[in-house]
Amino acid sequence: MTLTLRSLLAFAALAAAAPKPPRATTTADYVIVGAGPAGFVLAEYLTRDPRLKVVLLEAGPDGDTDPVLTTPAEFIHTGKYMWPYFSQPDPNLGGETPNIVQGRALGGGTACNAMLYCRGSASVFDEWARISGNPGLRWSSMLNSFKATTHWQDGQNINYIQPVNTSMVGNGPLEITRQRELLTLDKPFADKLQATFNLPQIDSQSGNGIGVTQGLQSIRASNSTRQYAYNTFGYLASRRPNFELHHDAWVMKIGFTNTTADKVTYNDTLTGTVNTIKAKEIIVSAGAINSPQILMLSGVGPANQLRALGIPVVKDIPQVGKNLVDHHYAVVQYEAKSQVDTFWQLFENHTRNAIETAKYQANGDGLFGNIVGDVSGAFRLPDSVFAGKGTFHKSLPADRPHMVFQYFAGPFLPGPNVSMVSAFAAVVQPEGSGHITLASANYRDAPLIHSNYWGSAADKAAVVWGYKQLRAIFRSSEIFGKYLVRELNPGEDVVTDDQLWKGIQKTSNSWHHPIGTTALGTVLDANWRVKGLKGLRVVGASAAPKITTCATQATAYAIGHRAALDIAAADRVCLRC
Ligand SMILES: Cc1cc2nc3c(=O)[nH]c(=O)nc-3n(C[C@H](O)[C@H](O)[C@H](O)COP(=O)(O)OP(=O)(O)OC[C@H]3O[C@@H](n4cnc5c(N)ncnc54)[C@H](O)[C@@H]3O)c2cc1C
Ligand SMILES: *[C@@H]1O[C@H](CO)[C@@H](O)[C@H](O)[C@H]1NC(C)=O
Ligand SMILES: *[C@@H]1O[C@H](CO)[C@@H](O)[C@H](O)[C@H]1NC(C)=O
Ligand SMILES: *[C@@H]1O[C@H](CO)[C@@H](O)[C@H](O)[C@H]1NC(C)=O
Ligand SMILES: *[C@@H]1O[C@H](CO)[C@@H](O)[C@H](O)[C@H]1NC(C)=O
Ligand SMILES: *[C@@H]1O[C@H](CO)[C@@H](O)[C@H](O)[C@H]1NC(C)=O
Ligand SMILES: *[C@@H]1O[C@H](CO)[C@@H](O)[C@H](O)[C@H]1NC(C)=O
Repeated sequence: MTLTLRSLLAFAALAAAAPKPPRATTTADYVIVGAGPAGFVLAEYLTRDPRLKVVLLEAGPDGDTDPVLTTPAEFIHTGKYMWPYFSQPDPNLGGETPNIVQGRALGGGTACNAMLYCRGSASVFDEWARISGNPGLRWSSMLNSFKATTHWQDGQNINYIQPVNTSMVGNGPLEITRQRELLTLDKPFADKLQATFNLPQIDSQSGNGIGVTQGLQSIRASNSTRQYAYNTFGYLASRRPNFELHHDAWVMKIGFTNTTADKVTYNDTLTGTVNTIKAKEIIVSAGAINSPQILMLSGVGPANQLRALGIPVVKDIPQVGKNLVDHHYAVVQYEAKSQVDTFWQLFENHTRNAIETAKYQANGDGLFGNIVGDVSGAFRLPDSVFAGKGTFHKSLPADRPHMVFQYFAGPFLPGPNVSMVSAFAAVVQPEGSGHITLASANYRDAPLIHSNYWGSAADKAAVVWGYKQLRAIFRSSEIFGKYLVRELNPGEDVVTDDQLWKGIQKTSNSWHHPIGTTALGTVLDANWRVKGLKGLRVVGASAAPKITTCATQATAYAIGHRAALDIAAADRVCLRC
């Protein structure tokens, strides 16, 4: 083969584009572990001080240019950006092992999630402030963090009604919008929810947690692409010379000198090199499953369990890994008539797929630019549901819903190759909680997740009541008669309460909103520090002491912002340099 000028130039271009071996930094002021929304918001704020060197380590890859990540409807195919976690067999579910996957990429959960944007009921944050002793967590103050992280951008020519209170939005990096057009079942389902439970339409950003919404989403309005932690906060931080971002950097352990955390060891899994960085402060923001895992691997957690695995104990904190609270739900699923917009039409009907591909490529229109089914209703249950089952649910503050019904124009459960719609009944303020333990001292072994879904008699009563209601809504003449063909789950033959409970157990799953496993108030002090240790903080979903009433990404960004302000105040970080 002769070397032409063209091939030489092509070769030179290739050589220039080849990734440089990552620089192995050895010291930093802050090392942040985990590049989800909490980690990236922290990085954006801390790097504002040019005197500081900030390193962010993320175990997962960079998926930023992958259409599966950027295209909203492709979120159902983002499995390669997840930790493939499952619960241990849950006795409450007859031994089922619901999946509790977590985000694993630059962006964390926001790289693979369904993009629903919702803040939930205000009183949850007031409760966090009481539990933690941090007044900055009150709703009135967290509203500033919600605003500082987001802005609202409505689409053009939208002709349906969705209340949005623009004094609840700010001018932060993350764009929030709504879907350009409603799908076939959106309005019928929303109307039926409003009528059945006498609910108002609400703005899910307003602090109002009870009502119906045709979702708000973290999607860029102009071209219908995913807005997430990396292409917002991550891009801002990455412009600064004092920031270093490593993906495929799997943290193995935090090291201590006596009780001061001062180093982080990680495996650069692209090269197989193990590096250690010395740091003045380490902030773990690795999500609700991995944050307690990293603490325990490093000797911080229940001493008896750590010793049994041969892990030297740095600090005995029995509550690390406890208080695993997650929104969980039971599913009804139906075969849909051919005029109903669904994922099946989008991905399995070649005619429709071609139409939708052309629409999306032209200007971001159509089903690909949409998360395909985002109507939800949040409501209180009557006290009678909880009669004789304790006071937990009845005494929740009046602004909080017990339950959310959410509809989805695709299958939550495996089923036949037909067009399907489904919906779930979720208990969003569960009384029961699960916990996390280590499987071994090896950082590569998935932690053991004990989900404990429907973990109290009252939680169980709530889902049984809700499941019957949800099924009744789908079997109503307004919905079934016009749009559906047959019930697939729990199934037409399910009649008795006993059969129904089995149907609930078989279809129970996680809404992927775990929180609480390194909580403020128990594990953490009011400024996000691990109690009894120096140089170590935990920020993100795992720090939340109680669960919010709806999807959790909005809160994870706001937690990152609140923590950045608290850390800056304590450590004299200059945020306006
Ligand atoms: C499938 C799915 C769907 C969801 N849908 C929605 C939704 O539609 N709307 C909504 O509001 N919320 C949704 N959520 C929840 C939301 O995304 C999370 O609450 C949020 O991302 C939590 O933020 P975080 O920063 O605390 O942690 P995460 O986003 O979980 O980020 C933690 C990061 O740390 C990394 N990490 C973990 N261990 C290590 C280690 N040892 N070394 C280095 N890095 C490590 C992880 O890979 C991850 O990138 C969903 C979550 C999932 C998983
Ligand atoms: C919008 O929010 C502001 C500020 O919280 C509030 O005063 C106002 O009443 C809200 N408006 C509506 C229509 O809800
Ligand atoms: C969407 O638009 C933004 C802003 O113009 C741009 O930066 C981004 O690359 C676009 N995304 C895609 C996938 O085209
Ligand atoms: C660690 O603790 C030991 C025993 O209390 C003490 O002698 C030593 O000075 C401490 N080291 C540091 C670096 O603080
Ligand atoms: C580091 O990661 C590589 C790639 O996954 C793996 O082959 C290697 O065994 C790891 N090294 C250690 C010490 O865990
Ligand atoms: C496939 O899509 C086309 C175009 O939307 C539609 O006319 C047809 O009914 C669909 N087929 C099925 C089996 O639903
Ligand atoms: C499902 O059915 C459609 C339409 O009949 C077909 O094109 C598609 O290949 C099928 N998919 C699978 C996974 O069998």
